[in-house]
Parts: sequence; structure tokens; C-alpha cells
Amino acid sequence: MLRTRRGLFDVLAGRNSTAGAAAMFAARGHEAYVAELQAQGRTARPPLPPGVNEIRISSNENPLGPGQKVLDSIVKKFPEAGRYPFNSSPADSQLVAAIAAHHQVKPENVVLGAGSQEILKSAVRAFTSPDRALVTALPTFENPTSTAKGLGHPVKEVPLDSAFRLDVDGMIAAAAGAGLVFFNNPNNPTATVHGAKTVTDFVQQVRKEAPDVAILIDEAYHEYVTDPSYQTAVPLALETPNVLVARTFSKAYGMAGMRIGYAIARPETIKELARYKMPYNISVFGVAAALAALGDPAHIEAEQKRNTEVLRFTQKVLEDLDGKCTASQGNFLFVDLKRPAKDFRDACAKHGVMVGRDFPPFEKTHSRISIGTMQEMTKAAEVFRTVLEPTTTAGR
Ligand SMILES: Cc1ncc(COP(=O)(O)O)c(C=O)c1O
Repeated sequence: MLRTRRGLFDVLAGRNSTAGAAAMFAARGHEAYVAELQAQGRTARPPLPPGVNEIRISSNENPLGPGQKVLDSIVKKFPEAGRYPFNSSPADSQLVAAIAAHHQVKPENVVLGAGSQEILKSAVRAFTSPDRALVTALPTFENPTSTAKGLGHPVKEVPLDSAFRLDVDGMIAAAAGAGLVFFNNPNNPTATVHGAKTVTDFVQQVRKEAPDVAILIDEAYHEYVTDPSYQTAVPLALETPNVLVARTFSKAYGMAGMRIGYAIARPETIKELARYKMPYNISVFGVAAALAALGDPAHIEAEQKRNTEVLRFTQKVLEDLDGKCTASQGNFLFVDLKRPAKDFRDACAKHGVMVGRDFPPFEKTHSRISIGTMQEMTKAAEVFRTVLEPTTTAGR
């Protein structure tokens, strides 16, 4: 039983036996979950050997989580846990207003989602149909694809170009007669990015050739991009009907567990999307946390610098091991290790290092590695050397 705020911080920091017990139950829960997935013929995270500490670099999370201001705001919110988000203070409408101010737009240009995945799902429901396909890339973030397939709506998957970027021309060609184009920039899992001019030309071209098609530009990794040719597509979304930008607090803001995302678009486009929004989709904790995060821009700046440094370190380690990385503009690397992702993943897991899942059609050669802390990546680097060196040197 937690009686003090200090006690809660101890649990948050893993210093309390309650946290240890929770972790133990969570681990048992995970085993049951894994068994269930396997029974369904689905792949699960490989099991962790007993006594091995886990380094989780599989889900493109910020390994440090949110800053202290955000943690404080969550703790302060507990007395209002009994309230609906519209009925607590600050209310969810205040978060909408703060996001609008952050982007210099109006509240009617914003809709919140329980993570940006709610935005992605709603967009597929709003803009595709049995006659109007989803156009997406292969590989890219799969949520829109699986949502469309689940609804029985057609999906056109356009392979990436030779530099592992979204194939802009291929996607323009596929857009004729479609309902929605999903444009992930930077693209997960390849971390590649298109510059502002390419994105603007792309949107204008789709609008010209297929004016009824909606375009969803997912900028989940926006805060990590360092390429100066890149800019957000928010201004484009404000001036162009049926163009939406999705953003999330799950990545650089370190709040994946809080589940907050949002879309920005013209008011009529937001209304279309909001028809599918779940009522009260953001928790009171999420509202407080996101407001605190927006009030702490220095934390994001520091996170971007930290990520870039660790990313470079990790890339060098992989390249020294003959790995070939795509041009990463995110908090993860997509690397050609010339072996199946499953083999690399299982070998790393034996040492407690959990790397990303399969990304067809590159699952026989490429793995996705998220960027942890420098300490974690230094340990992971040792594991990568152990796992990769025998094969990479054998053929020389
Ligand atoms: C491109 C992309 N969009 C959206 C998401 C989902 O984020 P959220 O946690 O906001 O639902 C992810 C998560 O990995 C992602 O990679």
C-alpha cells in the first residue's frame, strides 16, 4: 500500500519491494500472454533467460521516459482519478488548447487520440471503404494496414525506393481511386525521411491526380529528426483539405505508457476523423502529463541530443561489424546484418538484449534496433559483437 508520494516515486524508480512484486506478476502475466500468442500461431517476444537483466530496444521507446516535471504532474493527479477527463482540472479541452498553441493553430484544428494509433485507426475508418483502398508503403508502420485488412478494405502496399525511403512516385501512382494514403515520415522501420519540398510536391501531386483522397502524414519521430531539409507538414495540413498530420507523446516525450497522440488538420477534416473517436479517450493522467511535457521544451531538446549521440555510437558499432544501416532520422536503426532478423533477435535475447520484430520483405536480412541509453547500448554492443563476429569474420 502506498501511503506517501515518496513511496510512489520509489515504485516508479523500481526501488520498492512492491515494484519487485509487480514486476514478478507482470513477468508471469507475460508468460501467459506469450503462450496465448503462440497458441494463436503468432510470434511473441523471445523469453528472457533467468537472472539476465533485460535491455529493451525493440519498441522505439525513449529509454529514459518522461522528465521529472511530467512525473510530478502524474502523481499530483491521483486525487482526481475518480473524475472524467472533461470534468477534472486541467480538463482535456485544456490539453487541446495547449497543443493548438504549441502549433499556432486553433483548437478546432486538433483532435486527441489514445496514442497516435487511435488517430491512424480512425483515419482508416473515416477515409477507406470496400471500394476505396488504403495506399501505404512496404515496410512501414503496420497499424493502418492491419486496420484496413480487419475492416475488409483493400490495401495497396508500395515497396520502398532503393534508398529505403517511401517511394513517392509509386505512392502517387497508387493513389488514383484510393481512399487514404498513409505517409510515414520518418518511416518506421527504416527511419528514413523525406525533405519538406518532396512532401509538399507529393501532396500537391496526389491532390491534383486524386483530389478526393485523404493523406495522413505520420510524424511520430518528428522530434528526433536532424536532417535540415525536413520540416513538419503541419502548415500543409492547415492549407490543404483532407490532409492530416499525426503526432504522439510516445516517442521523444517518453510517454508511450500514457497513450496520448493527436492529429492536426483543417476543421472539416478533423470533424470527419473525430466521428470515430472513442469518448473520453485520454485519461486524466495523460492530460496532466502532456500539459507538463509541453511546458518543458528543454527536456525534448536534451533528448534529441542524447539520442543522436547514442545513435551514432550504435551505428558505428554495427558498421564495424559489417552491418549496413539505412540513413536514420529516428530513435532506431534499420540494419542489414545479412541474416534473418529472427536468428539475430533470438541470439541477442539469450543475453537479455531484446531487438525488434520481423519487417517483411526484409526479414531475411534486416533487423530494427531501437536506441537505448548509452549504458544500455554499450552493453548491447558487446552482445552484438558476440553474436555477429564469428559469421562476419568467417568469410573474409
Ligand atoms: C510511425 C509510428 N506511428 C505511430 C506509432 C504509435 O504510437 P502511439 O504510441 O502514439 O500509438 C508508432 C509506434 O511505434 C510508430 O512507429
